[in-house]
Amino acid sequence: MAQLTLPRNSRIGAGRAWPAAEGAGRTVTFRVYRWNPEEDGNPSLDTYEVDADDCGPMVLDGLIWIKNKVDPTLTFRRSCREGVCGSCAMNIDGANTLACTRAMDEVRGDTVTIYPLPHLDVVKDLVADLTTFYAQLRSIEPWLQTESPQPQTEWRQSHDDREKLDGLYECILCACCSTACPSYWWNGERYLGPAVLLQAYRWLIDSRDEATGERLDRLDDPFRLYRCHTIMNCAQTCPKGLNPAKAIAEIKKLMVERRV
Ligand code: SF4
Ligand code: SF4
Ligand code: FES
Repeated sequence: MAQLTLPRNSRIGAGRAWPAAEGAGRTVTFRVYRWNPEEDGNPSLDTYEVDADDCGPMVLDGLIWIKNKVDPTLTFRRSCREGVCGSCAMNIDGANTLACTRAMDEVRGDTVTIYPLPHLDVVKDLVADLTTFYAQLRSIEPWLQTESPQPQTEWRQSHDDREKLDGLYECILCACCSTACPSYWWNGERYLGPAVLLQAYRWLIDSRDEATGERLDRLDDPFRLYRCHTIMNCAQTCPKGLNPAKAIAEIKKLMVERRV
C-alpha cells in the first residue's frame, strides 16, 4: 500500500539554539538542517544567531562564520566562493541556489532557512549525495568526440558556431535545476534531468563534435529525455540564469529532424 506520510525517521525536529554572543553587532538568525548519520536520531533544524557585522554579506559567509566561531561540526560543501564551482548549492529560503552568491539581506523576512538540495539522500547536514547525478553526467560522455584527423594546432570553430554555445557553456553543474524539477524527483533514476540534458545539448550543438548520431541514440528513450513536461522550475531556479528547458526542447527538435 502507498505510504502517504513521511517515514518516522525523516521527520525534522526542533534542534539546538545557539544564542548571540555577548557584544554581538547586528545579528541574523540562521535555521539550518542538521543530520548526522553517526547518530541514531532524526534530522533537526538548529538555530544560530550570526553576527552579521563580523562576517561577509553572503549566506555562505554566515555558514563559514558559524563553523569557525560557533559549531565546527556543521558540514557543507564550498570551494570558490564566487559562483564558479557549484559546490555550495543548497536550498535557501525555499529555493535552490548558491550560498556564495545569495546575500543574507536578499532573504525574505529576517531568518535564513537552509536545507540541503531536495530529493537527494543526505550524506550529512547540508551535503547531498550527488552520486547518481554524476553517473548520469558520465553517461552522456561530456567531452569532444571526433573522427577527423587531429589538427596540428586546435579544433577551429567560426564565431557564429561558437555563439551557439552561449547559454550552455556557463553551466557550473551545481544541480540546483535538477533537484528543483518535479519530473526528476519522481524519476531521478531514469530521467536525466535538466542539468545533464543541458550538457548533452551543449555537445550536440558543438560544430566540432562528430558524434551527434550516437549522442542522439543514447538520449532516444522514453525516460532519459521525454520526462520533461516544461514545468520550468529549472529555468526559474538556475543561479546562472540559464534555461535548461529550452535546451531540452532543442534536443527534442533534433530528434524529430533526424526522423524526417
Ligand atoms: S543549468 Fe544552472 S542550475 Fe542547472 S546545473 Fe547548470 S548552472 Fe546549475
Ligand atoms: S522544464 Fe522540464 S526539466 Fe525543467 S523543471 Fe520542468 S520538467 Fe524539469
Ligand atoms: S562556493 Fe563555488 S559556487 Fe559557491
